Amino acid sequence: MSRQLGPPPFCVVPGQAVQQSLRGRRAEVIALVEDAYRLHGQRQTVNPPSYFLRFPDRPDARIIALPASVGGGIGVDGIKWVSSFPGNLGLGLPRASALLLLNDPRTGYPFACLEGSIISAVRTAASAACAARRLTAPRGAPRRVGFFGTGLIARFVHEYLSELDWDVEEFGVFDRDGRYAASFAAQVLEPTGRPVRVYSRPEELVRGADLLVFATTAAAPHVVAPAWFDHNPVVLHISLRDLGTEVILRSVNVVDDVEHVLKADTSVHLAEQRTGTREFLHATLYDLLTGAFTAPPDRPVVFSPFGLGVLDLAVGAYVYQQAVAAGGAVPISGFFHELDRHRTAEA
Ligand SMILES: NC(=O)c1ccc[n+]([C@@H]2O[C@H](COP(=O)([O-])OP(=O)(O)OC[C@H]3O[C@@H](n4cnc5c(N)ncnc54)[C@H](O)[C@@H]3O)[C@@H](O)[C@H]2O)c1
Repeated sequence: MSRQLGPPPFCVVPGQAVQQSLRGRRAEVIALVEDAYRLHGQRQTVNPPSYFLRFPDRPDARIIALPASVGGGIGVDGIKWVSSFPGNLGLGLPRASALLLLNDPRTGYPFACLEGSIISAVRTAASAACAARRLTAPRGAPRRVGFFGTGLIARFVHEYLSELDWDVEEFGVFDRDGRYAASFAAQVLEPTGRPVRVYSRPEELVRGADLLVFATTAAAPHVVAPAWFDHNPVVLHISLRDLGTEVILRSVNVVDDVEHVLKADTSVHLAEQRTGTREFLHATLYDLLTGAFTAPPDRPVVFSPFGLGVLDLAVGAYVYQQAVAAGGAVPISGFFHELDRHRTAEA
């Protein structure tokens, strides 16, 4: 019997093509990520729990699988497979590496394998910018922006926050490794032309910022004094495990997805375990986008995004289209070879 339907052509999109596809398109990517959150809020996505592969002999390392499906106008299935090896920094390599597979929702066939770490960083940063825009609106644009943890994610978050056209008066940085803080200050922040202060005491950074970005690799809370937040900053708690339970409980808490973020010993998960309730969670990002919730300006606000696979797919599908159009996707001809159920394919 002749086949009615062939598999889509398969291609690989290397990191350089991913980067080129995203260059100069930050506003578009933020809009795309907002659309993906809207679809998620309208239940037009499937986003099962992430699967964590851990290693008894390498307790700080993990590889996470994030399968997902996005409906609506995006229409793609797939999976992100992302490694986190904090020891890589000592080898001169980024902590995270990833690939992203896109599947055709008609046939299930994978049609693209993309370098995933840039897409992952970009969707994380776009999500932070999307939340920051809504959370700062009632209190005015922040003048002092602080980065707690100064790795690759902090760099991308800075780039995407720059899209919001804030008139930042001063940047602050703190990292437990002063060399990383100094390098981040010199290479990422000083080119903005704004004053940059490198802090040696975390309390001073926290008290000195209207908007804080946490992007460390801390495994357990280390910022535990609620009084540090008495000036009611907006906190983008991207690394999820820095803040103590008392800080969480005294703040307004906004998350991306309740079920996802209350897992894996995040700070909000620890707060749930301590109190036995979820009442300290006030809203999701979808509630902010629809206007159903507005964060009060007279309390600290903490945004805790677990990071949804649907965002990787939305950005990945966009990158794929751009890369194919620009000739940056590498076709792998004949990748799927046995395409007749009964007849053996020719060698
Ligand atoms: N929520 C999400 O969607 C999402 C997505 C991607 C990454 N992340 C998280 O973002 C974090 C940062 O990722 P990255 O790739 O930039 O990592 P990275 O290793 O490049 O940088 C982390 C930095 O944090 C510093 N650090 C570690 N512990 C610290 C502490 N207790 N105090 C101060 N500084 C500390 C390190 O010295 C390092 O400079 C990771 O925890 C990662 O899991 C979250």
